[in-house]
Amino acid sequence: MAANWKMYKTPDETREYLREFLPLVAGHDRDEIVVCPPYTDVATAIEAARGSNVAVGVQNVHWKADGAYTGEISAPMLLCLGVTHVIIGHSERRQYFGETDDTVNLRLKTALESGLTPICCVGEVLQEREAGLTDDVLRRQCVRAFHAVSAKKAAKLIVAYEPVWAIGTGKTATPELAAEAHAVIRREAVEIFGDEFAAKLRILYGGSVKPDNAKALMSQEEIDGALVGGASLDPKSFAAIVKY
Ligand code: PGA
Repeated sequence: MAANWKMYKTPDETREYLREFLPLVAGHDRDEIVVCPPYTDVATAIEAARGSNVAVGVQNVHWKADGAYTGEISAPMLLCLGVTHVIIGHSERRQYFGETDDTVNLRLKTALESGLTPICCVGEVLQEREAGLTDDVLRRQCVRAFHAVSAKKAAKLIVAYEPVWAIGTGKTATPELAAEAHAVIRREAVEIFGDEFAAKLRILYGGSVKPDNAKALMSQEEIDGALVGGASLDPKSFAAIVKY
């Protein structure tokens, strides 16, 4: 169960959030719980979450370890802080910041090689769904993202299916629709990584997940967890989703 805070919250707000959130999910061991704040909150979040069952991730990572890349953050920098997870290829990065299937692949390989757990996002935009292209888009995004990644290397991989039309819009994919898309992704994982890997691959759903729809979504066999944006910004709301 992963929270994507996007560009929200200061370090003080992060401390306050975790002070409220951690007791609400203490002892919850059914799911892995990850909070992904902006980089500027990471040190505070790690300090506040130390010793708890909540891990701290980030929302992007560069593929080089260091170099003249103004404004970028590398995997070694994150690892030394204690970051364990990274969201890669979120649709907002694809839409607004020039992220492509190829840069997703570079980031994914780096995350896996460095020991970070990547949450790799795929998903179709509305026009693609309306044109009946959803399956093709998901297959293409998976093939390109997982290019030259072996099943052995990909062991920690998590995929998030995030239909772009459902992100921040209040429109959720129905549980059945989401499950169908997850099945497409899992079939592609069979092709690329083999049966055994694909059966174990965790595929999260993201797109307007809220406390009142989490249970219906999570009760689909194909849906292994959630990547939550807006509703993760409030500790009570995210805790309710985690514990649906
Ligand atoms: P949302 O965002 O829950 O606000 O729709 C999900 C996401 O972008 O990961």
